[in-house]
This record gives sequence, structure tokens and C-alpha cells, in this order.
Amino acid sequence: MNIEWTKLPFGYFKTDYNVRCFYRNGKWGEIEVSSSEYLPLHMAATVLHYGQAAFEGMKVFMGKDGQARAFRWDENWKRINNSADGILMPEIPKELFHDALKQVVDLNRQYIPPYGTGASLYVRPLLIGMGAQVGVKPANEYCFLIFVTPVGPYFKEGFKPVRVQIVRDFDRAAPLGTGCYKVGGNYAASLRASERAHEEGFSTVIFLDAKEKKYIDEAGPANFFGIKDNKYITPDSHSILPSITNMSLRQIAEDLGLKVERRHVPVEELGTFVEAGACGTAAVISPIGEILDRDNDTHYILCKDGKAGPICTKMYNRLVDIQHGDYPDKYGWTEIL
Ligand SMILES: Cc1ncc(COP(=O)(O)O)c(C=O)c1O
Repeated sequence: MNIEWTKLPFGYFKTDYNVRCFYRNGKWGEIEVSSSEYLPLHMAATVLHYGQAAFEGMKVFMGKDGQARAFRWDENWKRINNSADGILMPEIPKELFHDALKQVVDLNRQYIPPYGTGASLYVRPLLIGMGAQVGVKPANEYCFLIFVTPVGPYFKEGFKPVRVQIVRDFDRAAPLGTGCYKVGGNYAASLRASERAHEEGFSTVIFLDAKEKKYIDEAGPANFFGIKDNKYITPDSHSILPSITNMSLRQIAEDLGLKVERRHVPVEELGTFVEAGACGTAAVISPIGEILDRDNDTHYILCKDGKAGPICTKMYNRLVDIQHGDYPDKYGWTEIL
């Protein structure tokens, strides 16, 4: 096998095996190993028509010591079950999730990118309604699967500030809708806005709260945070996905001596931050350099020299070091697989 690890894109790369488990007659079966990239799917499966699909995204990192570390997989397990509950799919037992994760990583160990390449093994758990329905109802049968794929860094340019755009003519999620779950429909709802932003030269969009359009909600497929007065400030909203990276950064911010605030963040407050970022598994932190309000042409400049700010940089380095085993994991966030 000859993979150019440092040139890997953030995309799908075929590996040898995936693992699957089927839920039938009210119970989960045994974990099955598959070398097929395809699923046998009934054309009336609820995943295809009624969006019964929840997924997760997490990573495994190779350390200097040659050990592969999964980062906070138990939080992804809790979150997929929360998503499952939100759209009436069965719960995945913790042991099943963990065994499936261990097996799929073991079977594809040769695809874990080496330490120091900037690449990692992306892990994608998926839970879908497989059973046929014609009326709008939850399925009777489900498939839980995990595949893995080696990925390069999310941004090829590296840890550099990005431009983002505030939009008001699209909502990603309704106030009491499914925004807090990681379900396929939310991503379909965000595609138009994010593709337009790319065409207009922005890396992502900032969605506002759908009800009042006053507060920052989600930063595309990531959570938003801003820094000022030695505080880490991040939106509190029912319609954003509770990011595990954000949860980790809140702890790191405290460890670095910052105060953490989770509350509504009014759009006008953007002008007061000294640094800001979008956070998620894919990039850890994308420092935000500039925010354009698409409706009134207001520009918020958060970075003048084209470099990430000192607090974003410190938090980023600390989290990446914990993930790779280069900094003591005092909260037990990593598990060697
Ligand atoms: C909509 C959305 N928000 C936030 C996040 C960040 O979450 P996490 O840090 O758990 O990857 C993601 C990515 O998973 C996402 O898709």
C-alpha cells in the first residue's frame, strides 16, 4: 500500500472493511464485517423517503508512540442516540458502539495515517431506517454501520483565518426542529446557502436564529465562538448541534484561564470580539478572519494580519496535542484502540 499521507484530501478514500449491525424484530443482531461499500436497500426504506438517518463524525489519531487514540467516542455515542431518539430510531447500546468501533479500526489499522502527517482516520458511524414504509412512519428495521476513511487536514492552507458570511434568506433548522440532532435532513437544508457562500468566495455561512434573526446560531457545519475580555463566548441555542469540539474547547479555555459564557450572541456583538472561530471535528478550529453580513454589507474584521489570534492558536494546539498523546490527557478524553 502506497498512500501519500501528506497529500490526502478531506474526502472519501476506500478502506478494506466496514462493520454493520441490523436491528430486526425489536433487537440488535451480531456485528457483521463487510468488505462491500454498498448497502442492500429496499426502495421504500424510510431513510430514502422520510429521512431516518443519523450519523456521527469522529477521529482516531496516531501518536508518536505508535498508539492509535480515539477522541471522546463516548460523546459521539451519546449524541447518535440523542439523534436517534429525536427521529424515532432505536438506541445503540454502548457496548455495541464500542465493539463496532474497535473492530472497524482494527480491521483497517493500515489506513491510520502516521503521526506528523496532519492526517487522521475519520470514523463515520451511521444509523438508518432500512425497513419499508409507504405511510409516514418510523421503520421496523434499522442498520447501524461504521466505516473509516483516512483524511487530510480540512483546510489545505492550514490553520489560517477564513472569511464567512451571515445569511438571513436561509435557515438551517427551525426553532423547535431537528437542528440539535445530527440527522441528514439538516445538511440537505444547509446545502444551498453553503454552496452559494463558496461561489461568493466564503468558506462557510453563519446562520442566525430562525425565529428572530438576531442571534448567531451555527457556523455552517461547526459551532461558533468569540473571544473578548478574557472570555470564551459561544451561542446557547436549541437549534445548533452540541459540538464535542466546542465542549472540549470550553474546558481548555477554562484551563487556560478564560471565563466561559454560553448564551445568546447578538449579531452586533461580532464587532466587539478580538478573535472568533468555527469549531468541529473536521478542522478543530477554523479561525475567522472576516465576517460579511450579506444583507447590509457590514464587515466585521477579526484579524488584520492574516494570522490566527493567540488564543485560538493556544486552544488549537492544546486540543491537537491531547488528541495525539503529546499533552497529558487529564480528563480521559482519549482511548487507545
Ligand atoms: C452542524 C454541525 N455543527 C457542529 C459540528 C461540530 O461538532 P463536533 O465538534 O462534534 O464535530 C458539526 C460536525 O460534526 C456539525 O455538523
